[in-house]
Amino acid sequence: EDYALGGHPDFMRKEIAEQGEAVRRALRGRLDDRFATAHLGGLNMDARELRGISKVVFLGCGSAYYAGQLGAQVVEELARIPATAEPASEFRYRNPVVDPDALYVAISQSGETLDTLAAVQELQRKGGRVIGAVNVVGSAIARQCGAGVFLHAGPEISVASTKALTNMSVSFTMLALLLGRVRDLSAADGQRVVEGLRALPDAIDKVLTDEPAIAEIAQRYAEARSMFFIGRVRAWPVAREGAQKLKEVSYIHAEAYQASELKHGPLALIDPEMPSVVIVPDDELLAKNINTIEQIKARGGPVIAVTNADLPANVADDVIRIPRVATELDAMLLTIPLQLLAYHTALALGRDIDKPRNLAKSVTVE
Ligand code: G6P
Repeated sequence: EDYALGGHPDFMRKEIAEQGEAVRRALRGRLDDRFATAHLGGLNMDARELRGISKVVFLGCGSAYYAGQLGAQVVEELARIPATAEPASEFRYRNPVVDPDALYVAISQSGETLDTLAAVQELQRKGGRVIGAVNVVGSAIARQCGAGVFLHAGPEISVASTKALTNMSVSFTMLALLLGRVRDLSAADGQRVVEGLRALPDAIDKVLTDEPAIAEIAQRYAEARSMFFIGRVRAWPVAREGAQKLKEVSYIHAEAYQASELKHGPLALIDPEMPSVVIVPDDELLAKNINTIEQIKARGGPVIAVTNADLPANVADDVIRIPRVATELDAMLLTIPLQLLAYHTALALGRDIDKPRNLAKSVTVE
């Protein structure tokens, strides 16, 4: 085990550190500068079939579901195809309407999650076209789907997923690019995304150099009983994943909320004992997000902003800054500091980081 850890104290820390390399592997041979697109040979679909897709539905459990939400966002944005995500664990119980022109994407690091496999089987029974987004080659979901995109994240041991989730997001961005370029995404915008993806591994490594500052913030908030994770639109899946990570490894209660929904209830919970992590991408909603921070601050709530924008001085109590790559890729990069925040909170509290209580790496039972 010591050898496998390669000098890291645990697998979660090791897998966080490996993400730049994991993304490089996921991109290898798949980006095309000439046509400003991506190649995903495992899909087994030609341009005509890709053009015929009426909507994209992502299905996964836990972090894989949140990666699906991020995927849905980027597919709608780049390809302008309606896209949604839902928990695979709910799918077969609600008698879903299966659309033969939709593309269903079953997402799973392990490829063995029973709920996700059952969703695939239900879809296939009803004539749905389903592809896998799976890390483990030869796994049950990969075999059942027969087509899809492998994540190439390498083995992930820590129960809390980090690099697999990042590679899911990278894969969905490539899928969105591919779908966009056979529709009306311009070559110039396509190339901007290609270049953003290529810049991503170095940007991830850059975020990781900020670890000491993030660890210091985590230590200061480690005694919190509960935390909010706030984001809107692109940052909403980021907030959900951030809350999930914190819960999983630190056992601190965390709830993700859409920024605009705060005033419809949760603002009542804001006080000096309730820290909020606000995710602020440098996009067209920046002013709205700054306003959200001000609303929380006005009620005495501490705010940790995670951003790639230039925020007004002192607007938040703590600011974690990350580099810019391309607007559509911001969400992916904004998840990285949240992994470190959860990790260092758990470390400060002396948790069993790689094996949180009551959880399993892959859940192969109902
Ligand atoms: C378990 C793990 C989660 C993971 C989920 C889906 O609940 O604890 O961390 O996100 O399964 O796993 P999968 O292997 O299908 O991605």
